[in-house]
Amino acid sequence: MAAALRATSSAISRAVTARTPPLMGGARWSSSSTWWGHVDPAPKDPILGVTEAFLADPSPNKVNVGVGAYRDDDGKPVVLNCVREAEARIAGNLNMEYLPMGGSNHMVEETLKLAYGEDSEFIKDKRIAAVQALSGTGACRLFADFQKRYQPESEIYIPVPTWANHHNIWRDANVSQKTYHYYHPESKGLDFSGMMDDIKNAPKGSFFLLHACAHNPTGVDPTEEEWKEISQLIKDKGHFPFFDMAYQGFASGDPEKDAKAIRIFLQDGHLLGISQSFAKNMGLYGQRVGCLSVLCEDDKQAVAVKTRLQQIARPMYSNPPVHGALLVSIILSDPDLKNMWLKEVKVMADRIIGMRTALRENIEKLGSPLSWEHITKQIGMFCYSGLAPEQVDRLTSQFHIYLTRNGRISMAGVTTKNVEYLANAIHEVSKS
Ligand code: LMR
Repeated sequence: MAAALRATSSAISRAVTARTPPLMGGARWSSSSTWWGHVDPAPKDPILGVTEAFLADPSPNKVNVGVGAYRDDDGKPVVLNCVREAEARIAGNLNMEYLPMGGSNHMVEETLKLAYGEDSEFIKDKRIAAVQALSGTGACRLFADFQKRYQPESEIYIPVPTWANHHNIWRDANVSQKTYHYYHPESKGLDFSGMMDDIKNAPKGSFFLLHACAHNPTGVDPTEEEWKEISQLIKDKGHFPFFDMAYQGFASGDPEKDAKAIRIFLQDGHLLGISQSFAKNMGLYGQRVGCLSVLCEDDKQAVAVKTRLQQIARPMYSNPPVHGALLVSIILSDPDLKNMWLKEVKVMADRIIGMRTALRENIEKLGSPLSWEHITKQIGMFCYSGLAPEQVDRLTSQFHIYLTRNGRISMAGVTTKNVEYLANAIHEVSKS
């Protein structure tokens, strides 16, 4: 009996010891504290937090130009017709089996053609290690983890400014971050010489995060000539270029044209990485469908890299979701549906370009003494307005207009119905 009691009490003590959490953020478990008493609420996400604030505002005049998500001219989310058609084709025929760890091979093959070119020699030579990823964020994160694992001492150079989540992604992968000059606040354009100096001065073999097109948040892209010089310098310095291509099609309306920077780098013989996403250009935001690819020296290396990417994915989410991947592969592999998609991408890009002109004209009509030329010069989903955080705060508190505090306006949220109201509010907060 006594022996049984002793065994029970030592089992209990083992269980309690196993439950005691390690030191974390200065907190130590004790019998008087709760498990999570030391956890503070996280600060609001600078982009998604704007959507939360917008949704909580009861004002009938409210305008959301925060998150980069396409809206039609009535301010409504859009499901593309090609997506509706692909959904109709799979309705009832979809089984719910697991995809492989690397996702749908069919989807990946079609996706690579968009980035590397329909007849890419790299695809034919099987030199690309590629896996389906949880949209662009997931692709960047997989790459960041891969970078940490196989180039543990390397750093990532990130443009200033960049999409806020880039910092979180590489931080959580424990890759140390450096920045490079990108945006020139006075000209509201590219700081080309600052960028080139930073590329030149970075230690040989550094990693550079580049936005392939429609730079987020600035809407400022290098010209073709500038890309050629950037590519050459990155090559000379032996750096590794990693492209985040979240907006293919949104800059020019043509996915092929928007792949120009990547094609220049490929021609120059770089080994590179690419994150692709179908959130914006197919409107598949919530489906979380994208692709990570790494161009390798040969097919053998590509197999090794791919298996390691899969190995990183397995304990995170095991394998990616099937529905979005199926939609993408149906659309891209059917010539009619692909054509329909290309037209719809162009319609979205053109509506945004039209809204840029309308916003600029409306502000100028109010007699603003400031220059608003950058609204029409910048491209893609965003306009980097140049408004200061305090001016943004006034837009929100006085006019119920929601945008990120860095002054980024999602042009996709501007419509013929709200453009005048928005222009008037921008004029009001910027004139004094
Ligand atoms: C954005 O920049 O608004 C989008 O990419 C959405 C997001 O996840 O931040």
